[in-house]
Amino acid sequence: MNNDRLKVRACVFDAYGTLFDFASAAAACRDVLGERAATLTALWRDKQLQYTWLRGLQGRHADFWQVTSDALDFTLESLGIADSSLRARLLNLYRTLQCFPEVPQVLTDLKQAGFVTAILSNGAPAMLADAVKGAGLGGLLDHVLSVEQVGVFKPHPSVYQLAVDTLGLPAGKIAFQSSNAWDAHAASAFGMRVVWCNRYAQRRERLPGSPDREIRSLAELPALLIRAA
Ligand code: LAC
Repeated sequence: MNNDRLKVRACVFDAYGTLFDFASAAAACRDVLGERAATLTALWRDKQLQYTWLRGLQGRHADFWQVTSDALDFTLESLGIADSSLRARLLNLYRTLQCFPEVPQVLTDLKQAGFVTAILSNGAPAMLADAVKGAGLGGLLDHVLSVEQVGVFKPHPSVYQLAVDTLGLPAGKIAFQSSNAWDAHAASAFGMRVVWCNRYAQRRERLPGSPDREIRSLAELPALLIRAA
C-alpha cells in the first residue's frame, strides 16, 4: 500500500458494519440481554452472512430481511432465549440502526468535494430506505443500491457490476469502502479501488483481490480521496 491519493470519481459504501452499526440493536436491549448482547450480535451477524453465501451457492435467493430474521431465530435458539417480544424489538431496531458517529460529516465532505456517493448493499430496498432515513443520511447519498436489483448476494461479481452500470463509471474510478474484509477483497478482485475500513481489527483474508488502503474509521477516508488545497 502507498499514500498517494486515490483518483476516483465516486465513493460507494457497504451498509451494515460500514455505515450502520449492527451492534447497536442488541446493545439497546442490554436491559434484557445483559452480557449476552455482544455474543448475540456476533452470532447473528455470522449466521446472517453464512446464509447469504449458502443461498447464493444454491441459487435459492431470499431477501436480506428474510435472511436476517432467520439468522436471528437461529441465534436466539442457540442462546436458549425464547422471547417473542425481544425478537420483535431486535428486528425493529435493525430497521433503524445507528450510523457510526463520523458518517454524516464524512459524507458531507465527500459531497462537497464533488464525489458521487452511493450505498451498495445486501440490504433489501425497504431496509436500506429505513436505515438511511433513520440516520438522516438521505440528502448525502446519490444512490442507494440493493442486491435485490440483481437477485444474488455479495460477493457475486454482478453486485459490483450494478454499481458500475448505475454510476456509468469504470470500476477503477470507483472507491469502494467496506468493513467486511471478504467484501473488500471481492470488490478489489472485480477492479474497484478499495478502502478497507477495518473497524473490527480483522485479519487480512486469503482471497482474490487486495484492498488498496486500510483504515480503522471512515474519518480517515476524505484524506485518501480529496486533493489537498
Ligand atoms: C451489506 C453487508 C454485507 O451491507 O454488510 O452488504
